[in-house]
Amino acid sequence: MSIGIIGTGHYLPTNVVTNHDLEKIVDTNDEWIRTRTGIHERRLATDDIDTSDMAYEASVEALKEADVPAADIDLILVATVTPDTAFPSIACLIQERLGAVNAAAMDVGAACAGFMYGVITANQFVAAGAYKKVLVVGAEKLSKITDWTDRSTCVLFGDGAGAAVIGEVSEGKGILSFELGANGAGGKELYLNKEDHIVMNGREVFKFAVRQMPESTIHVVEKVGLSREDVDYLVPHQANIRIMEAARERLGISEDKMAKSIERFGNNSSASIPMALSEAVKEGKIKDNDLIVLVGFGGGLTWGAVALRWGS
Ligand code: ACO
Repeated sequence: MSIGIIGTGHYLPTNVVTNHDLEKIVDTNDEWIRTRTGIHERRLATDDIDTSDMAYEASVEALKEADVPAADIDLILVATVTPDTAFPSIACLIQERLGAVNAAAMDVGAACAGFMYGVITANQFVAAGAYKKVLVVGAEKLSKITDWTDRSTCVLFGDGAGAAVIGEVSEGKGILSFELGANGAGGKELYLNKEDHIVMNGREVFKFAVRQMPESTIHVVEKVGLSREDVDYLVPHQANIRIMEAARERLGISEDKMAKSIERFGNNSSASIPMALSEAVKEGKIKDNDLIVLVGFGGGLTWGAVALRWGS
């Protein structure tokens, strides 16, 4: 059986915060943020919108695109580091709102690589024959855990959600291979402190990411006898344009073949890959039969990549 992504959706808060807006709250400037990170603006959710609200909206769009009624979903997996509360999980909150009454539900904790862990977990349940359709969501209200006095981190993050429905696709399409990894020894480079703020050793994370993204991409395509030249579209975690560009150049992929939403949305942690994927699908940048690689890394440290042949 072949298993793939049969629908995608994303949601962005309407509140746009520019680099110039941030100049008013920390000692920074538009030029530094653009050149060091590639970010021009980000969306920040207002007080009345929490992570589950964004997860819900992205899920509605993904279910619609997949043409799957909520009651047909067997499992909901939500990757997040910013749940509304520790419990109930976001997965349970949206299970009720969607009316996905037949779905089991849980959140997945792998920081920015969470969506990759979610997709691969979903793939296993479907491949085992246990479930037919799984909803995987990445949703973050990072503005809740951002230290708005720390200029080295607060300029990076944005809020949003992306979702994908995983199910059976026609033979030869869908997920071809994957890689998941973790290095707990690197946990100290990127974590949530006791004040519930993101703390990051930017340089160490940068070095790790520049190595991991191209390596994992090459691993997943070579696992199925393909090479980097065969990749039609790369959807990397949108952490920093310099990390993404370094990966792209090492892979020899042209600019038009890489999703780039960081300029407008910043780094959305677990939501960045499904948001960028959903946007690329809607804009027609991903076509039937294209070889797609989704690749991400995050706190933990964690990482993951999937190679898939697009289409249902
Ligand atoms: N505005 C102006 N100056 C700043 C700012 C800012 N917002 N932030 C830092 N600086 C200053 C620093 O204080 C430093 O000044 P100094 O030389 O006088 O000490 C100078 O700029 C250079 O700082 P660096 O930290 O060396 O800057 P760097 O080029 O490494 O860029 C950055 C920092 C953007 C954080 C980069 O290291 C990075 O992107 N790292 C990876 C981050 C990442 O990928 N995170 C993803 C995981 S987190 C997640 O996804 C949830």
